Amino acid sequence: MKKGLILTNAYTKLVASFNQAIRLKEELERLDVAIDVLRNDGFFATVNAQGDVETTLADYDFCVYLDKDKYISQMLEKRGVRLFNRHQAIVDCDDKMVTFIRLADNGIAMPATLSGLLCFTPEEKVRKKTLDKIERTLGYPLIAKECFGSLGKNVYKIDDRSELEAIAETLKCKPHLFQKFIAESAGKDIRVIVVGGKFTAAMLRKSETDFRSNIELGGIGSPIEIPEKLQRTCEKIAAILNLDYCGIDILLEKNDYLVCEVNSNAFFGGIEKVTGVNVARSYAEHIIHEIYKK
Ligand SMILES: Nc1ncnc2c1ncn2[C@@H]1O[C@H](COP(=O)(O)OP(=O)(O)O)[C@@H](O)[C@H]1O
Ligand SMILES: [Mg+2]
Repeated sequence: MKKGLILTNAYTKLVASFNQAIRLKEELERLDVAIDVLRNDGFFATVNAQGDVETTLADYDFCVYLDKDKYISQMLEKRGVRLFNRHQAIVDCDDKMVTFIRLADNGIAMPATLSGLLCFTPEEKVRKKTLDKIERTLGYPLIAKECFGSLGKNVYKIDDRSELEAIAETLKCKPHLFQKFIAESAGKDIRVIVVGGKFTAAMLRKSETDFRSNIELGGIGSPIEIPEKLQRTCEKIAAILNLDYCGIDILLEKNDYLVCEVNSNAFFGGIEKVTGVNVARSYAEHIIHEIYKK
């Protein structure tokens, strides 16, 4: 009997998160795989007193890892569990700056970005020289982001020096970055889904009330046809990051498309509704192909 596992985050209460698990279970079971869904709160992988990684999940053929807990994902892979997405792919996408660095040098367009200087002593002030360099390089308005964040929550637009100073102070002890504001894309971007290396779906997201187009902040999705070239670029991004599945945010500038971020754990409920594409089925088919049809 084919047997797979879906692991969800230990604390999540998001409906969209449960929907991911429900839809994937449905589509995988349609393909004759028995699926258990578990919350990732059972200490399913640990380092034991002998100094070995131990797991209670080794019998599953695969695990769809809807979590981002990098310790458990690493331990599961050590014990040979095939994760969708893989541990390193999730880690590289979770940190926005790491994603940019991983994608750089591959001919992929992205906004000019400065990595925030990490401070270990909160009583130290961000230096004038640092602020000068950021404003000279990026101009105003500019964007600041925490490297770890989602749903638009930790993304800030900065209009002048006093805002820059305040936000730089607030963020200095956490991983963060500063980025050119792509003015033409204000309140607008494209979300692209790639599954198993293939372009699968795209939607335009537009907000009338915020520069951030996240659906969770009031952005509205609509279907959009994207050029072949952008489809191939998104496939290339997924390949570089070794992702089985992802949602890529694309900013629009004149005739250019710039990568905004790559989500290893992108929700697909919204884009399924907007485009009519069965993303969960494509993902389930990819998983089955990877595990059973090699
Ligand atoms: N450099 C930028 N220029 C213009 N808009 C941006 C820029 N970066 C982000 N945004 C807007 O903010 C939204 C959220 O940013 P993103 O990096 O995708 O973070 P999150 O992980 O919170 O979704 C994007 O979908 C986009 O609408
Ligand atoms: Mg985003």
